[in-house]
Amino acid sequence: MSLELTAEEADLLAGRGGRAARKAMEILVALGRIYGADRLLRVASVQVSGVSFHNLGEAGLEWLEEMAADGHAAALATLNPAGMDLEAWREQGVDEAFAARQLRVVEAYRRMGIAAECTCTPYLIGNLPAPGEHLAWSESSAVAFANTVLGARTNREGGPSALAAALTGRTPAYGLHLDEGRRPAVEVSLEISELREGAGTAAWGALGCALGRLTAGRVPLVRGAPARVSLPELKSFCAAVVTFGGSPLVHLEGVTPEAALARWGGARARPAERLALTDEHLAAARASLDDGPTDPLDMVCLGCPHASLAELAEVARRLEGRRVKATTWICTARATAAAAERLGLVAAIERSGARVVRDTCFVVAPLAGHVRTVATDSAKGCFYARGHNALSVRLGTVEQCLEAAVAGRWP
Ligand code: F3S
Repeated sequence: MSLELTAEEADLLAGRGGRAARKAMEILVALGRIYGADRLLRVASVQVSGVSFHNLGEAGLEWLEEMAADGHAAALATLNPAGMDLEAWREQGVDEAFAARQLRVVEAYRRMGIAAECTCTPYLIGNLPAPGEHLAWSESSAVAFANTVLGARTNREGGPSALAAALTGRTPAYGLHLDEGRRPAVEVSLEISELREGAGTAAWGALGCALGRLTAGRVPLVRGAPARVSLPELKSFCAAVVTFGGSPLVHLEGVTPEAALARWGGARARPAERLALTDEHLAAARASLDDGPTDPLDMVCLGCPHASLAELAEVARRLEGRRVKATTWICTARATAAAAERLGLVAAIERSGARVVRDTCFVVAPLAGHVRTVATDSAKGCFYARGHNALSVRLGTVEQCLEAAVAGRWP
């Protein structure tokens, strides 16, 4: 199948839209050819990863500054978390050399017209697609949320391909953009006693971990979830499922707009392969996410993925009149924090000694060497805090994590 370009796209590829747009189009055409796309699709929005200087390095920064010389966004685009709070980085103990480079990264994106909103929950701050819209998002938890909860269509882009999509407003038509790529391939029934309504973020993160491992990249149709699943639970689930090898689209019955089999051709579309996910799978997932006793506990992190306003309100309520002993970060988007400030929630949280941390998180910030042990309610956070920052981790509920923050050790 050959990739057909419109006249406008061919112009961009020929360099008539400038050097950055030509490079961007070259990336998209190469990807389209590799994956057998027959056309490019217009995207409703883009979410660009490759923002933390911790992950990007000097070569990445130079490439971005080169693209910023004449590149300009052709679609709404926001950024993934950076390696520090872009304003309060001194308070975080970030060194000057790192901060200078991190600020240059964000400035390069700004010059390209990409909103310097550094968050993994862009859908909470206005980058909110409608069902069926095509996107080019790269943060894995946001990609899974967009496909699974919002019913929008995006592959999991890398930093360069997402930037290419931002600069052209296009992405190749393959994978999860097409009906063929979204068809359920395996059916999973949830046979888990503890998965009641209100089970919480840690339980849903462990479920995402178990499902990701069980289905290994195939698109699952998941049956037997509670009738109501909260936004924080869905965020946690979506973040974990991809982290542990699952597909960035899960047809979660009762949640995903296109989960009904009727959408795929009725009973004939029912996957032949059927699996059960049981209490044993969940217990194994939980055990694998927790490194066991940590005393003292250096740090507690909530807001992975970035916290919503309602989650910040819950933290403020639980910490009222208390003081934390462990360093405590509640990570969120700057825009969400601004709304929380107006409601008095940031002041309420920070009176306890905890910090509302904007633009970054405990995984992309360079914490290795400064912190050894961390407690979190995020299964994804456990995985990457170990890998990126060499931390020892404890997985617990929001309540357990905040009790641990106050006690300075795991309760
Ligand atoms: Fe977001 Fe950082 Fe967690 S990018 S999903 S808060 S690891």
